[in-house]
Amino acid sequence: MSYQEEYGKATNQPQEFWAEQAENIAWYKAPQTILSEDENGIGRWFADGELNTCYLALDYHVENGRGDQVAIIYDSPVTDTKQKITYTELTEQVAKFAGVLAAQGVTKGDRVVIYMPMIPEALVAMLAVARLGAIHSVVFGGFSAHELAVRIDDAEPTVLVTASCGIEISRVIEYKPMVDEAVVIAEHKVNNVILLQREQCVAEMQAGRDIDWAEAMSSAEPAECVPVKATDPLYVLYTSGTTGKPKGVVRDNGGHAVALKYSMKAIYNIKPGDVFWAASDVGWVVGHSYIVYGPLLNGCTTVVYEGKPVRTPDAGGFWRVCEEYGVKALFAAPTAFRAIRKEDPEGALIGDYNLDGLDTIFMAGERLDPPTYEWTMEKTGKPVIDHWWQTETGWAICANPTGLESLPVKAGSSTVPVPGFNVQILDEAGNELGPNQQGSIALKLPLPPSCLPTVWGDFNRFAESYLTEYPGFYCSGDGGYFDEDGYLFIMGRTDDVINVAGHRLSTGEMEEVLAAHDAVAECSVIGIEDKLKGQVPVGLTLLKDGVDISEEDLQSELVAMVRKQIGPLACLKRTIVVPRLPKTRSGKILRKLLRQIAAGQEVSVPSTIDDPASVAEIQSVMTEKGLVEKG
Ligand code: COA
Ligand code: AMP
Repeated sequence: MSYQEEYGKATNQPQEFWAEQAENIAWYKAPQTILSEDENGIGRWFADGELNTCYLALDYHVENGRGDQVAIIYDSPVTDTKQKITYTELTEQVAKFAGVLAAQGVTKGDRVVIYMPMIPEALVAMLAVARLGAIHSVVFGGFSAHELAVRIDDAEPTVLVTASCGIEISRVIEYKPMVDEAVVIAEHKVNNVILLQREQCVAEMQAGRDIDWAEAMSSAEPAECVPVKATDPLYVLYTSGTTGKPKGVVRDNGGHAVALKYSMKAIYNIKPGDVFWAASDVGWVVGHSYIVYGPLLNGCTTVVYEGKPVRTPDAGGFWRVCEEYGVKALFAAPTAFRAIRKEDPEGALIGDYNLDGLDTIFMAGERLDPPTYEWTMEKTGKPVIDHWWQTETGWAICANPTGLESLPVKAGSSTVPVPGFNVQILDEAGNELGPNQQGSIALKLPLPPSCLPTVWGDFNRFAESYLTEYPGFYCSGDGGYFDEDGYLFIMGRTDDVINVAGHRLSTGEMEEVLAAHDAVAECSVIGIEDKLKGQVPVGLTLLKDGVDISEEDLQSELVAMVRKQIGPLACLKRTIVVPRLPKTRSGKILRKLLRQIAAGQEVSVPSTIDDPASVAEIQSVMTEKGLVEKG
């Protein structure tokens, strides 16, 4: 079927379309109700279906002859380790770890927080939680104790699973002190911590609370898969919103399994048995969907890479892994390729490896700038596919659907809406805009399978954040336009979310940290262009009257505070002192205006501005300090 035919079917007969896709997974009880509304009026998929996601990802393949196939390739240049785990071995490990969790009281619907580096045990933990019908919440290792505590308080886990350390190139990052601190800060009491000791660093255990992973596994009874309803949550993954409090994106079991299975063929053109590598981290949605669930649901071999695109040991790391394991599709953030390009501009290292098995390179997580697109395509000789998605959707909203039909690529565009997504560009009043007119990107409800039905524990927040601005639509928070051929161009966030090295961060959250400094009267954090990371945050601060501190000292204190409160991944390295911040008459800082100045765009000064002269003033300060993007 051509893309147009498939897209038409998904749009005009969504129930028939998704009912057919649902036949591709092995339900315990096949759904009869394909689309219905929940108590909040949100469209839900397959409500009366029953399944277990872990069963589909593991046991099903063992039962169907894939037991000896490698499920996980673990490649860790930072520990000099390579390991292959078959579907049979992985199923056994997961069943046992599910037994460990069950022995700690984890049952269906309970939450388990997982704070682990990129090691196979992180996947074992996630799948074991799913096996019990419980709900995992993975927290990225680069987050601080404070951020971990915030997530513990929101998810209220029965158990926390961690490891003694992660490794950042050659630095050992101890996790245990952060876990201990988070458990103390959190109001929700975590009584059980399961810890995997790694040889790079042995953590001290707290008697009565901490359980040694290896010891517990040695005597564990394997646990069976627990059937859940399609609409029961599989996981909660926190993502940055515009405020300091992250949003717990809820993913259900049924819609997720069906959509991901569909995506493996339609978007990535991957068959069971192929090697698929998403060079991301299990702490992000890309890791959830395409390191863990997508490839395993599809009977593929997935690569777990504990390394960086560069410096582990060089800019040839990605190409080595692709050659060594016969990777068919490589998926990473554009930042990774910018980093490789910076160290190997001529792509000399690419020539050292045989990339014949590599079909396609996929990129997402941030804007794919045309120079990075062109460099990667030219130096590798492979098709490069940009696709746009969000934690909230769990899979691509727009892509070049290579498994249906490879459409001509346009640099700077994430191509066309994926079947199931009805994407529209709206103006401020909610009117649909025509080709080449820029506006807010909105998705018409109901959203297709896998998209979030709520924010964990807070439906009102879900409705306010996404559904109220344009009734009948999900507001993506991204701006952009369709061209005359129906290709989508993403122009960036329309809110206070920034994207740093493919990591989504809230400037509002950083502002809360800066505002807590004694010398700071007011502040605003904006994202400015960065050649490697896409964007980096910069803090604009206004000092309290009578404060005596140098700009340099203030900067180092603020940088340390953000590192401690949010984590090193925030990458806030620069703050400046400004004479004042442009505001409305009611005292609101005009953040959009600051963003426009930083982006070198024409500024739209609202009529509510308190003093129009403040615009030229801040523009001149920002230009002088090199914070305005050129041309
Ligand atoms: N645990 C602990 N610390 C971490 C971490 C983790 N899992 N991940 C990152 N950090 C730390 C880094 O060590 C660094 O600390 P530093 O300031 O002390 O040096 C800081 O967070 C910033 O990290 P990062 O933004 O990754 O910068 P980098 O210079 O170390 O690496 C890249 C640059 C481009 C190589 C790297 O950002 C990268 O691989 N990006 C791809 C991102 C990605 O895959 N995103 C997923 C979405 S698809
Ligand atoms: P996350 O939820 O962390 O995956 O981040 C989602 C956000 O990243 C989106 O809202 C976009 O702002 C940005 N993003 C993701 N993919 C792309 C892409 N292909 N092009 C442009 N921006 C993207």
